[in-house]
Amino acid sequence: MHQNKHQNKQHVPVLMDEVLQYLDPQAGESYLDLTAGYGGHASAILARTGSLTQAVLVDRDQNAIRVLQERTDTGKAELRQQDFLSAATELLAVGRQFDLILADLGVSSPHLNEGSRGFSIATNGPLDMRMDQSQELTAATIVNSYSQADLAALIKQYGEEPKAKRIATAIVQARPLETTGELAAIAAKAWPGRSRVHPATRTFQALRIAVNDELGLLQQALPLWFELLAPAGRIAIISFHSLEDRLVKQALKEVASEGYDAELGLLTKRPVTAPGQELVFNPRARSAKLRAAVKIKKKGNSHANPGKK
Ligand SMILES: C[S@@+](CC[C@H](N)C(=O)[O-])C[C@H]1O[C@@H](n2cnc3c(N)ncnc32)[C@H](O)[C@@H]1O
Repeated sequence: MHQNKHQNKQHVPVLMDEVLQYLDPQAGESYLDLTAGYGGHASAILARTGSLTQAVLVDRDQNAIRVLQERTDTGKAELRQQDFLSAATELLAVGRQFDLILADLGVSSPHLNEGSRGFSIATNGPLDMRMDQSQELTAATIVNSYSQADLAALIKQYGEEPKAKRIATAIVQARPLETTGELAAIAAKAWPGRSRVHPATRTFQALRIAVNDELGLLQQALPLWFELLAPAGRIAIISFHSLEDRLVKQALKEVASEGYDAELGLLTKRPVTAPGQELVFNPRARSAKLRAAVKIKKKGNSHANPGKK
């Protein structure tokens, strides 16, 4: 296990052994990290490729980029503070290709732990939820200005919340809301009976997805990521909820299931989940699902078998 060597007090990377197994980084290979966060995965991968000059680390969060800049093992790589769709579009436009691509989706532990970022149910803070703090749209705007019907639809669609209508009604009655604590209390009150997770969990997930357009960006970006892979290059994508995983699975199916014309070979038939011992020190890994694929080397009109170079 790699948890001790690469553990970072801000964010413990999930599925580290599995990421290294499927990406299989080799000395000199180029690397694109689309959600570099606090550099946990990047640090382990760069230690194997040894190639800072051929590494591009992307994150839309200013704080994450600041921490990456300050780290000696990531600070000299090309760092980009932008969303992974714009990054992929720009990298493709200048003809870049990568041997290794990683996307570890969603939020980081600092997002969830720092109340001031407004993602946390447990720690009170402003209703913010922006990963990129230069963005205008915040959770407060959605909560306080959307119609009851639109709020209910959003909470149902992105939170898969069965009590979405009831929660939307309670929110509209209590507006204006300013804090995550107020929202959590309202969602909890609108949820009768007992719930396995905090009753506001699905509402918070829905708002976070909407504020950051998480699914829209992912859906548009996935085909570009596959294009950015060099021949025999490997991609690993980690998702944290079923809406994300569905998009990843579908996009991979489109490029990996066309038989003779397949562009990618699947390295994981089913999503890989964290082993029990990882959950003990990193509960965030509980919902992580990893899917990986390899770009097929084309030889004239035929293609090589999926597998490593
Ligand atoms: C789970 S964390 C990644 C942690 C990282 N693998 C590590 O080991 O430290 C996800 C990161 O992705 C970033 N992120 C999420 N969606 C993004 C997007 N659309 N574009 C760029 N970065 C994004 C978040 O800001 C967050 O820092």
